[in-house]
Amino acid sequence: MAEIVIVPNKTAAGELVADEIAKLIARRPDAVLGLATGSTPLPVYEALRPRLEGVDLSQVRGFALDEYVGIDPAHPESYRSVITREVVDPLGLDPARIRVPDGSLEGIEHHGEDYEAAIAEAGGVDLQILGIGTDGHIGFNEPGSSFASRTRVKTLTQQTREDNARFFDSIDDVPMHCITQGLGTILEARHLVLLAFGEGKAEAVAGAVEGPVTASLPGSAIQLHPHVTVVVDEAAASRLAHADYYRYTYANKPAWQGL
Ligand code: GLP
Repeated sequence: MAEIVIVPNKTAAGELVADEIAKLIARRPDAVLGLATGSTPLPVYEALRPRLEGVDLSQVRGFALDEYVGIDPAHPESYRSVITREVVDPLGLDPARIRVPDGSLEGIEHHGEDYEAAIAEAGGVDLQILGIGTDGHIGFNEPGSSFASRTRVKTLTQQTREDNARFFDSIDDVPMHCITQGLGTILEARHLVLLAFGEGKAEAVAGAVEGPVTASLPGSAIQLHPHVTVVVDEAAASRLAHADYYRYTYANKPAWQGL
């Protein structure tokens, strides 16, 4: 099963995951990072800054999970812009080595397979950062997504559009479609690190970690992966039936084990 780490707050979560990423890059200067957008991973990116200062990042590669379809890449809320603003610029990564799925309408039917080919050519993702939607989506794999799915165009649920309306002037401005790595794509990353904060995520987290493995809750796909770390605050952990066991396990974790 996944390792569940319950931390006091977002800052502690960011530091824990940033430590792991910094170790990965020290071990493998051409590490392939799986980058996520949304508000959840921001403490990780923030905590990475001091840890990567002075480190040669010229070989690090990255692949974002998803992008809106039909959005102007220059729009401040395109995931291309978000990744540039929150990750590439502050950390000083090479923009040419960081890919975001191409959400432009022209040729959209081929953008998924192109993205898959680029991930394969990079040798696959070493560590994939994941958030989770209130409806249990990871990337933009909405409920019902196949566990075998690859990068493709999906229709956003109304719930997700409402959740993401806060980033736009109004819900009408939130795109209807997205292009997202599939669950099958995500499951091929070598280490999955899913973060979640706040009461609003508690049900999705409990379903993903302890519920049945079901396409109705796409986050439950993580139960099929051999190396998963779930980092949650107390509020996001509040619906976990075995929270005490997770705390006990983490407190007694062998020092050699790492995340
Ligand atoms: C967005 C993203 C997901 C993200 C999720 C949660 O729609 N496509 O990758 O995990 O919703 O967002 P947040 O972290 O802001 O709660």
